[in-house]
Amino acid sequence: MGQKLRIGILGSGSGSNAQSIIDAIEAGSLDAEVVCVLTDVEDAHILARAAAHGIPAEFISAAPYKTKLDGEGERRYIEALQAHGANCVVLAGFMRIVKPGLLRAFPQRILNIHPALLPAFSGMASWKQALDYGCRVAGCTVHFVDEGTDTGPIIVQRCVPVEEDDTPKTLHARIQVEEHQAYPEALRLLASGRLRVVGRRVVVDSSEDATEVPGT
Ligand code: GRF
Repeated sequence: MGQKLRIGILGSGSGSNAQSIIDAIEAGSLDAEVVCVLTDVEDAHILARAAAHGIPAEFISAAPYKTKLDGEGERRYIEALQAHGANCVVLAGFMRIVKPGLLRAFPQRILNIHPALLPAFSGMASWKQALDYGCRVAGCTVHFVDEGTDTGPIIVQRCVPVEEDDTPKTLHARIQVEEHQAYPEALRLLASGRLRVVGRRVVVDSSEDATEVPGT
C-alpha cells in the first residue's frame, strides 16, 4: 500500500468529475482525501461543489497566460497545492496546458481525464471529433500527464457506443457517465501503489512487493 492520496483537483468548469471523486471517497470506495479544489475561472461551478463538501476551494488567477499554466500563474498553483499538502494532482476539466514546473513539483503524480479514446482525438471537443469522423465507439481516457498534450501513459480507458441519432451533446453526456467511473477507478489503482510505468505502458502489479510509481 502506498502513502494515502492527498488530492489537489484543478478544474475550470462544472466539476462533475471532481464530484465523482468526492462521492467515491465519501462512499468509502476510494481511500483518499481531496485537500483542495483550485480553479482559474472565478465563477466555476466546481467551487460550489467543493464548498458543499467542506473542501477548501479557491479561485487562483493563472495570469498572465490564457491557455497554459506557466510563469507566475504556475508558481501560485504550485504554492497553493503544496500549502494544502497535496501529493497528487487531478486535472478535471482544467482548460490549460500544464508545463514542466508543475510536472517537476509532482513527478508522475498528475493525472488527466480526456473525453476520447487516446491517442485518437486529442485536443478540444474530442467527442465531436469522434462523431464527425464517423466512429462507432467513443470513450474516455485517464492518463498520467507528461510534457505533451494528452500523450501521457494510459491508466484507464472506457468506451461507449456512438448511436445513429447522437448529437455532440448526447455523445458527450454518455462519455461523461463513463468518466465518472473511470477517474475513481484510476485513483484506486494509484492509491494501491501497484502502478508502474514501463515505457509507454502502465502496468498494474499484482505482487505485494511491487515497485511503485515514485512518490507513492
Ligand atoms: C470532461 O469531459 C473531461 O473529460 C474534460 O473536460 C470535461 C470536464 O467536465 N477534460 P467536468 O467539469 O468534470 O464536468
